[in-house]
Amino acid sequence: MNIILLGPPGAGKGTQAERLVASRGMVQLSTGDMLRAARKADTPLGHQVAAVMDSGALVSDEIVSALIDDKLTTMTEDQGAIFDGYPRTAAQAHSLDTILATHGRRLDRVVELEVDEDALVARIVGRFSCAKCGTNYHEKFHRPKVDGTCDVCGNHEFKRRPDDNEETVRTRMAEYRAKTAPIIPIYEARGILTRVDGMADIDHVSAAIAGVLDGK
Ligand code: AP5
Ligand code: MG
Repeated sequence: MNIILLGPPGAGKGTQAERLVASRGMVQLSTGDMLRAARKADTPLGHQVAAVMDSGALVSDEIVSALIDDKLTTMTEDQGAIFDGYPRTAAQAHSLDTILATHGRRLDRVVELEVDEDALVARIVGRFSCAKCGTNYHEKFHRPKVDGTCDVCGNHEFKRRPDDNEETVRTRMAEYRAKTAPIIPIYEARGILTRVDGMADIDHVSAAIAGVLDGK
């Protein structure tokens, strides 16, 4: 099964993708994570995208579509894909169709996480992740079980994203409204879009997504 998790910054795409990876053995394809990995590894691509990402604007369609294509090449047929933060423009939506066809895959479902924009800034500025394994947390909504210790790997160091400040978040949201929200009708017209209440607590959102994927 190949699905898209769609929603504005802070909607919970990464949080829910992590859970689907754990519960269903699917593979998360987050273009944001791939770009951050390129920056961390000091690659030419990382240097090229750093300033754009830190401003909250979108990097070029060609770059992100090439990352998705490369990642699908490494996956086996039986591994389902979760597209997280991709596609984000009409051009990317079009490229994804082509890329999926090349890899003999089809898009089964698009889950839109519906959220109240006012709550998103609080979600994003409170976010942090494990510096070692990358597991995501939130100061208020999702703290590690033991303060200061990662639930998954036991590490004690955490980090924050450089684009997780209020000013950049506003730009990221404006980009979402202008360039990403307009692709929603494409999937609606194909009859594969389902909306889920992204304002519910994390477990309820996961249960709702599971219901969608299981056709309940
Ligand atoms: P990217 O990394 O994709 O960031 P984003 O879309 O802005 O989304 P976020 O990762 O901020 O939010 P999320 O929905 O994953 O929320 P999360 O689960 O973490 O992109 C970053 C940048 O890279 C872009 O600005 C752009 O420059 C570039 N880029 C990436 N892809 C691109 C593309 N395709 N094209 C062009 N440029 C691209 O949740 C947020 C917080 O809330 C967490 O702390 C979490 O614990 C908490 N939380 C989650 N769910 C809930 C809940 N239900 N209730 C309470 N708290 C919750
Ligand atoms: Mg994310």
